[in-house]
Amino acid sequence: MPGSRKTRADYYIGLMSGTSGDGVDAVCVRFDEGAPRVVLAAHSYHPYPEPLRQRLLALMVPGENEIERMGVLEEQLAEIFAAASSEVHRRAGLAATDIAAIGSHGQTIRHRPRGPHAFTVQIGNPARVAERTGIATVADFRRRDMAAGGQGAPLVPAFHQWLFGHATRARAIVNIGGIANITIIPAAATSAATQGFDTGPGNALLDGWARRHTGQPQDTDGRLAACGQVYGALLGLLKDDPYFAAAPPKSTGREHFTSEWLDERLRRLGRDLDAADVQATLVALTADTITEALAPLAPEEVYLCGGGTANPVLVAAIAERLAIPVQTTARLGLDPQLVEPTAFAWLAREAKAGRPGNLPSVTGARHPVVLGALYPA
Ligand SMILES: Nc1ncnc2c1ncn2[C@@H]1O[C@H](COP(=O)(O)OP(=O)(O)O)[C@@H](O)[C@H]1O
Ligand SMILES: [Mg+2]
Repeated sequence: MPGSRKTRADYYIGLMSGTSGDGVDAVCVRFDEGAPRVVLAAHSYHPYPEPLRQRLLALMVPGENEIERMGVLEEQLAEIFAAASSEVHRRAGLAATDIAAIGSHGQTIRHRPRGPHAFTVQIGNPARVAERTGIATVADFRRRDMAAGGQGAPLVPAFHQWLFGHATRARAIVNIGGIANITIIPAAATSAATQGFDTGPGNALLDGWARRHTGQPQDTDGRLAACGQVYGALLGLLKDDPYFAAAPPKSTGREHFTSEWLDERLRRLGRDLDAADVQATLVALTADTITEALAPLAPEEVYLCGGGTANPVLVAAIAERLAIPVQTTARLGLDPQLVEPTAFAWLAREAKAGRPGNLPSVTGARHPVVLGALYPA
């Protein structure tokens, strides 16, 4: 692109290690306020070795000796985050000094947004990331919003609004990670506030059931689900969870929608089901809870992102429940797998500029706050 080569330190790195615990997605990007537009310089994905993933997933539910296990994993993840950052800027042909900051979400291992001592924990020591990379690192994005009375989640809606907002059409962005979240961006012409919340499980239960019955970490391309039939009585039991009917603001985590959560409902059902039927029913749960959350918000366009977009059975289930066509964010110029890491690169930019990154209309915080802490280069 003529003239697109910018002066140093115009670029940001974003790192996202989501609730699926599958790996870290990294982007090296520049933000163009004009359009607005994301200029992608490079991206990379670093899957975690299976034993590491297992240890991460194990830390997401209460267990023995958590501080010790967390301490070690925090440093191991930081090394991976640092390596991912260095690789992605090299891939872009850029030096560390060309990067203004890394926005590192970290790995959520616990998220308890309700109660008198609400807390959320993301690990991946940012001091080590800054030390290893020589790049300023912004991390710990969620806790200030929570301290201001918010859910600390979801945080991606402000970025969705910046990049995907449209003058005359209300758009929904649906991110299907381990947990699924939606953002509804009203047409800019109206003065309505952007809304958003976690709808419940995205891929988390799908991955867990597939692992148990196929030995694979996911139901690749929805092959198991495609052989099954939705079992209505089970779907009803799953949808009875009060989270789904609760009014926003709301957010949730893997520690709520666990394999034990599913097992308990299977026991209540009191009958053995075919593994494929359970998988198909879990697809219906994700699709139903997303589309039922969208319905009252009446978006005119729906765009999907996140790893769930790679599951054609899940995408078809969502599409068949909506009256309007479903597309992915690729249609809007950003690869669906890169939306979340790019959001944290953008939030790092906002933090460095001293601008708030939360949307109180989404998180329920008392006021807008600057998100994250800066670890200098
Ligand atoms: N080919 C595929 N078939 C089915 N599911 C897939 C496929 N590729 C990715 N996924 C799903 O996407 C998940 C990763 O999505 P991601 O957006 O990274 O989630 P998170 O933000 O929670 O890490 C995987 O755990 C898996 O469930
Ligand atoms: Mg992921």
